[in-house]
Amino acid sequence: MHVLTIIPTYNEIESLPITLGRLRDAVPDSDVLVVDDASPDGTGAWADERAAQDANVHVLHRSEKNGLGGAYIAGFRWGLERGYDVLVEMDADGSHQPEQLPRLLEAVRTADLVIGSRRVPGGKMVNWPASRKLISAAGSLYPRIMLGLKLTDVTAGYRAYRADTLRKIDLDAVQSKGYGFQVDMTFRVARLGLRIVEVPITFVERELGESKMSGGIIGEAVVNVTKWGAQARWETLTGRSGRR
Ligand code: GDD
Ligand code: MN
Repeated sequence: MHVLTIIPTYNEIESLPITLGRLRDAVPDSDVLVVDDASPDGTGAWADERAAQDANVHVLHRSEKNGLGGAYIAGFRWGLERGYDVLVEMDADGSHQPEQLPRLLEAVRTADLVIGSRRVPGGKMVNWPASRKLISAAGSLYPRIMLGLKLTDVTAGYRAYRADTLRKIDLDAVQSKGYGFQVDMTFRVARLGLRIVEVPITFVERELGESKMSGGIIGEAVVNVTKWGAQARWETLTGRSGRR
């Protein structure tokens, strides 16, 4: 299996060096693609220097901050063009522990999408404030109900996709920018009838740098999930399968 781990970054100069080092140690066989949105703190320039010393590390620069979703789509295209078999999503801030990646890679041998879940037995959240736990619980429950997904952690961002799974999805049609992107992709994979497996992970809240979570990002997700759920019901009622 030829694996590419994609790490989107915006102002992660403190965290990225640590996470990248851990990843190279834990899973030396995985290539790495940092997708940086012109971070003012120099994360992209640091990544370029790192890439110059390590042939397995690559950097994709985007000209402005344009959301996690767009960064991953750009990274997926980059990896699909180069023939990788598995594309992994990993946050730069240490929340997704590189040492747990082998679990996801083991599971993706027999799954189309693997989600590192905080909500299956054995899954954990470390150092998460109560406010974030509440948002996350609601953010997980609402799409599950609206979209009929039988999964515990649909917003989770530690994932392994088979390349074939991504090839079956119209990536141009994926507009979600923020965390709704994770739900959007999950719903698309589920609708194709593909096999989604959750494996337990320990999500560790970042110690360095700042979260990019915002009210706008939550709002986008709530509006979209409501829209997709309503559309799916309408299609079931009318027997039409439209595009969303
Ligand atoms: N290139 C790029 N552009 N990267 C971004 C952008 C952007 O606009 N916004 C965020 N990132 C990067 C961050 O630098 C980090 O590496 C990663 O995306 C996650 O951002 P955080 O700000 O740390 O996200 P979080 O901790 O609030 O959210 C995590 O949990 C959510 C809920 O489960 C992520 O794993 C989300 O994917 C997940 O949905
Ligand atoms: Mn984070």
